[in-house]
Amino acid sequence: MKNFILTTLFISALFANDKTHTYSSSEDCKACHTQIYSEFNSSMHNNSTPQKDQIHNAIWAQHPKNLKFKQYSCGKCHTPASDNLDDMKEKGKRGGVPKADNPTHQAGISCAYCHRIKDIKLHKKSNTNIMTNEANNFFGTRQKHIKSPYHGIITEGNEHIKNGNVCIGCHSHKKNKHGLNVCSTNIDNEMNGANCVSCHMPKVIGSISNMNKTKNHTFHGFAGAHTHSDMLTQYVDISMLREINDFIINIDNRTSHSLLLHPLRTAVLKVSILRDGKIIKLKNEIFVRVIGHNGKPAMPWVASVTLKNTMIQANEKRSIKYDFKIQKGDKVNVILGWYLVNPKAIKELKLENDKLANEFIEFKNQNFDF
Ligand code: HEC
Ligand code: HEC
Ligand code: HEC
Ligand code: HEC
Ligand code: HEC
Repeated sequence: MKNFILTTLFISALFANDKTHTYSSSEDCKACHTQIYSEFNSSMHNNSTPQKDQIHNAIWAQHPKNLKFKQYSCGKCHTPASDNLDDMKEKGKRGGVPKADNPTHQAGISCAYCHRIKDIKLHKKSNTNIMTNEANNFFGTRQKHIKSPYHGIITEGNEHIKNGNVCIGCHSHKKNKHGLNVCSTNIDNEMNGANCVSCHMPKVIGSISNMNKTKNHTFHGFAGAHTHSDMLTQYVDISMLREINDFIINIDNRTSHSLLLHPLRTAVLKVSILRDGKIIKLKNEIFVRVIGHNGKPAMPWVASVTLKNTMIQANEKRSIKYDFKIQKGDKVNVILGWYLVNPKAIKELKLENDKLANEFIEFKNQNFDF
C-alpha cells in the first residue's frame, strides 16, 4: 500500500495547478472499501465509456462530433476523470477520443471524481461540476468517522453530496444545439424527503470499510435501468380495477422524474390472462418519448422537437383500459419492463448483435386472481 500512496502524492503534486485534474484510481479504494468497490464496479458509472458501453458507443460512432472533429464532448459526463479532458472537449484536437489503453479514459465516473465535486455551476445547455484541487481529500457525510490512513475526509461544505445535488452536474438536463432538452430529470420536483441519493443509493447490509466494521453502508451500484432495478420497484405501484365489461390497470409512478429518462428507452406493459389452461395475450401498451425533426424521428443531435411523449411522467398515475371481460377463475398477469434501446432504432444503430440492447428488462411482474 505504501507504494501507491507515494505515487499518487507525487502525481497530484505534479498536476496540482493543471486545469485538467488528476484523480486517484478507483482500484486504490478496493483494499479498504471492498464491498462499495465491488458494487461500483458493476455500475454504469464504472462502465460509461465507449469501450465499456456498447449503447453509448453506438450513438458516439454516428455522432458528427466524432466523424468531423474527433471532439469527445461527452467526456464531461462520461469520462470526467480523463487526464486530457480539456483536449477531448475541444474542437479539432484530433485523437482526443477515449483510448482503451489509457486507464484514466476508462475510469468512468470514478470514486475520487464523485467525492471531489465541490459545487455545481448551472448552465442552460448542461451543468458543470466544480472540482476541488486536493487529490486525496474526499467529501463524506457521516457524523462520526475514524481517520483514514489513505485520504482526508471533508465534512464541511458537504451539503451537495448529502442532499443529492452532487448528481445534478451531469443528470439535470442536456440540451442540444437546437435547444431541445434531450434528457431531463425534473430536478426541481420536491419528493417528500426523497432525493437521488436516498432512492438510488439506499442503505444496504455490509461494512463501509475493512477498517471500521459497520452494519450498513450506502449502496454504490447505482440502481437504474441497466442494473439493480429490483431495488427501485417499491416506487412504482401496479393495481387492477375490474369493471363489468372491462378492466383497468393503474401504474402509479411515485418518483420525482419520468419512469425512464433517456430518449432511447421504450417501456412496455404486457398483459395476459390465463383461462382454462390457455394464455390469452392482450395488446402491449408502449410508453416512449420520441424526439425528431420535420415530423420524423431523428438522432439526438438532429432532433429539434418532441414528436410524441407517452412516457409515464413524474408522480403520474396512468390508467390503461382493456376492453376484455374478466371471468371467475381468470388469472391476470401484468408485466412492466423496458428495452434500453427502442427496437425501431436497433438496426440504424447497428446493435442487432448486442444482447443487452435487444433484451426486454422485466421491472415488475404481478398476478391478479379472480
Ligand atoms: C451533461 C452530461 C452528459 C453529456 C455531455 C453526455 N451525456 Fe450521455 N448520458 C448522461 C447521463 C446522465 C446518462 C444516463 C441517463 C439515463 O440513464 O437516463 C447518459 C446516457 C447516455 C446514453 C445511454 C447509454 C445506455 O447504456 O443506455 C447514451 C447513448 C449517451 N448518453 C450518449 C452520449 C453521447 C454520444 C454524448 C456525447 C456526444 C453524451 N452522451 C454526452 C450525461 C451526459
Ligand atoms: C487504507 C484504507 C483506505 C483506502 C485505501 C481508502 N479509504 Fe476511504 N476510508 C477509510 C476509512 C478507515 C474511512 C473512515 C470510515 C469510518 O469512519 O467509518 C474512510 C472513509 C471514506 C469516506 C468518507 C465517508 C464518510 O461519509 O464520512 C470516503 C468518501 C472515502 N473513504 C472514499 C475513498 C475513496 C474514493 C478511496 C479511493 C480513492 C478510498 N476511500 C480509499 C479507509 C480507506
Ligand atoms: C460526472 C457525471 C455524473 C455524475 C456526477 C453522476 N452521474 Fe449518474 N450517470 C452518468 C452517466 C454518464 C451515466 C450513463 C452511463 C452509461 O449508461 O453509459 C449515468 C448513469 C446513472 C444511472 C443509470 C444506471 C443504470 O443502470 O441505468 C443512475 C441511476 C445514476 N447515474 C445515478 C446517479 C446518482 C444517484 C448520482 C449522484 C450521487 C449520479 N448518478 C452522479 C454521469 C454522472
Ligand atoms: C422516489 C425515488 C426516486 C428519486 C427521488 C429519484 N429516482 Fe431516479 N429512478 C427511480 C425509479 C423508480 C426509476 C425507474 C426504474 C429503473 O430505472 O430501474 C429511476 C430511474 C432513473 C434513471 C435511469 C433512467 C433511464 O432512462 O435509464 C436515472 C439515470 C435516474 N433515475 C437518476 C436519478 C437522479 C439523478 C435523481 C435525482 C435528481 C433521481 N433519479 C431521483 C426512482 C427515483
Ligand atoms: C456518482 C457519485 C459517487 C461515486 C462514483 C462514488 N460515490 Fe461514494 N458516495 C456518494 C454519495 C452521494 C455518498 C453519500 C451517501 C449518503 O449520505 O447516504 C457516498 C458515500 C460514500 C462512503 C460512505 C458510505 C457510508 O456508508 O456512509 C464511502 C466510504 C464512499 N462513498 C466511498 C466510495 C468509493 C470507494 C467509491 C468507488 C468504489 C465511491 N464512493 C464512488 C457518491 C459517489
